Amino acid sequence: MTSAHTDPSPVTVRVPAKVNLELLVGPLRDDGFHSLSTVYQAVNLTDDVTVALDDDWSCTVTGPCADVVPTDASNLALRAARLLADESGVDTPVHVSIAKSIPVAGGMAGGSADAAAALVACDRLWGLGLTTEELEEYAAELGSDVPFLVRGGTAVGSGRGERLAPVLARGSYHWVFAISDTGLSTPEVYGECDRLRGSADIPEPTPNSELMSALRTGDPHILAPQLTNDLQEAAISLRPELGEVLRSGMEFGALGGIVSGSGPTVAFLVEDVESAIDLTVALTATGTAREVRKAIGPVHGAHVIPARVD
Ligand code: C5P
Repeated sequence: MTSAHTDPSPVTVRVPAKVNLELLVGPLRDDGFHSLSTVYQAVNLTDDVTVALDDDWSCTVTGPCADVVPTDASNLALRAARLLADESGVDTPVHVSIAKSIPVAGGMAGGSADAAAALVACDRLWGLGLTTEELEEYAAELGSDVPFLVRGGTAVGSGRGERLAPVLARGSYHWVFAISDTGLSTPEVYGECDRLRGSADIPEPTPNSELMSALRTGDPHILAPQLTNDLQEAAISLRPELGEVLRSGMEFGALGGIVSGSGPTVAFLVEDVESAIDLTVALTATGTAREVRKAIGPVHGAHVIPARVD
């Protein structure tokens, strides 16, 4: 039996990972961030985040890499829930449970994705009725990539990555991700990028119009040569074996290969689902990656899914 006084049921939100089709890194700003021009695409490697009313704020994480995700107050999804509560005058704590499948510290914004999911889930649980734009504003306070994981699809990011503009992208793209054993720290990779650049004068980055045109064709052959990541050299400098993974993927028939964000995940664009299966099998056999997974993009951002019936 239900009544107006019954606690609302837990809410589960599914959230994608991202790959940067283009990541142009500008100068270091006074606030410690770099100005960026980036093109994000959401891909269907996903986490599920469930929020449920509880007596206190808490968090649990399950999944293959759960042991390396903090569950204390520093957890980004828990911070997202508390931020939304503070900003909305809510005083009903939640338990956040994260079923993790996105690689941890892999350059695919897994932590940011969980924060985006927690915002969308708590908005529903507490009946706040916020718009996507309002949720994206809170998201920007939590991290540069978080607004994009609320929105999903394909989008241009500027500022430090948090200011979004839509992109006209046709078609679906098939990706294969080579996931490493141990993660890379994003600040360290940006630091290495600065070190490699030395005293060079770095201009403000602007989006590449050829990449935008390629996305309008929906043709992966045209998109592949436009994939660019200014952090790739830094990631390979810290983790030289990533160069080997990139070479293997290209030899096995990928149309394009790129380090995903700050790495160490390597993303390969392939022609179709058969090529994705072939490359997954071939790369798995080399043993150079902990895990190889295929995915499709673009997909929706964080969205509520029906409750699981166990
Ligand atoms: O925004 P987020 O918390 O994901 O950023 C993590 C770290 O990555 C920052 O503290 C900063 O060191 C680096 N970063 C940067 N420039 C950006 C985004 C992130 O230097 N535009």
